[in-house]
Amino acid sequence: MKRIGMLTSGGDCQALNAAMRGVVKTLAHSGEAVEIYGFLDGYKGLIYGNFQMLNGKDFSGILTKGGTILGSSRTPFKTIREPDENGLDKVDAMKQNYFKLRLDVLVVLGGNGSHKTANLLREEGLNIVTLPKTIDNDLWGTDMTFGFQSAVDIATECIDCIHTTAASHGRVFIVEVMGHKVGWLTLNAGMAGGADIILLPEIPYDIKKVVQKIEEREKNGSKFTIIAVAEGAISKETAKLSKKDQKKRAEESKYPSVSYEVADEIFKRTGREVRVTVPGHTQRGGSPCPYDRVFASRLGAEAGKLILKGEYGFMVGYRNREIVKVPLDEVAGKLKYLDPKSTIIEEAKLLGISFGD
Ligand code: F6P
Repeated sequence: MKRIGMLTSGGDCQALNAAMRGVVKTLAHSGEAVEIYGFLDGYKGLIYGNFQMLNGKDFSGILTKGGTILGSSRTPFKTIREPDENGLDKVDAMKQNYFKLRLDVLVVLGGNGSHKTANLLREEGLNIVTLPKTIDNDLWGTDMTFGFQSAVDIATECIDCIHTTAASHGRVFIVEVMGHKVGWLTLNAGMAGGADIILLPEIPYDIKKVVQKIEEREKNGSKFTIIAVAEGAISKETAKLSKKDQKKRAEESKYPSVSYEVADEIFKRTGREVRVTVPGHTQRGGSPCPYDRVFASRLGAEAGKLILKGEYGFMVGYRNREIVKVPLDEVAGKLKYLDPKSTIIEEAKLLGISFGD
């Protein structure tokens, strides 16, 4: 008999349910008796002992369902060691609940912050297996996270729709794509949607270069320009500031987000009409795309295999087209940034895409 705790933590994404279903189906087909404790709303469920006993049927019919049947929430790692408003030690509470329920393993589906906490719990003696979720694809130790491809599809479709109206009106259009720290999603959706300019957190932009590209396009007969801007895109001037000053600048900014600032700068410099579209959380919503259904199911199956073998302390990841187990202490605390010198950036530039650098 295996007693398995499971939780989904952080911002949700597509295929969380598919991944959990993959774990549970694998265990069910092994013939091993299992008890599943589903903690509700992320680590909060583990801290406060809120869980539901689940069985195979609860995971049936959820392959295509977006969101997470367990609910999710953010429990920032930087406050994990701070007592809650009632003085409760959160780490102690999680350990106590885990041991009280005599769990064999806790399966955590999460992104960066969630992996830091998962690794902390491992250090505190809990058996942990994790699965890499996030639309940002910024988790260290895996070439791909589930949720990413589905989000690329949605952001691309948004750019596709903008394309037709941009062509009719001859305007400059900005589509703001999710990703505060990394630009994987913006780069992929931007390239797939045929964006002319792509602004990423990893490549600080010069607004003069952005304007130059728009003017060049116009000179060559293109009436419109599409710009894909990551939430965390940053200008060269801002990039020179300390992190503290960057934060202060963002807090004091009159713009709701960087896209509106870029739009205003373009308008001031060229007098052109600029429109901003923010697909926002739609990028994390709806059904997982077929790629993510397959990918998350595979990761879930491999996690089930690790549990059956009693191999703990790993994230199930994907490297060089193979599913691999990555030690949690290698994953925790690192972000997988886009390398501005990578071949994909070089190829995008060969295609004529400007990064404003
Ligand atoms: O981490 C995934 C993500 O969707 C980011 O791309 C985005 O910046 C952030 O979460 C939004 O967070 P929230 O849902 O808390 O507003």
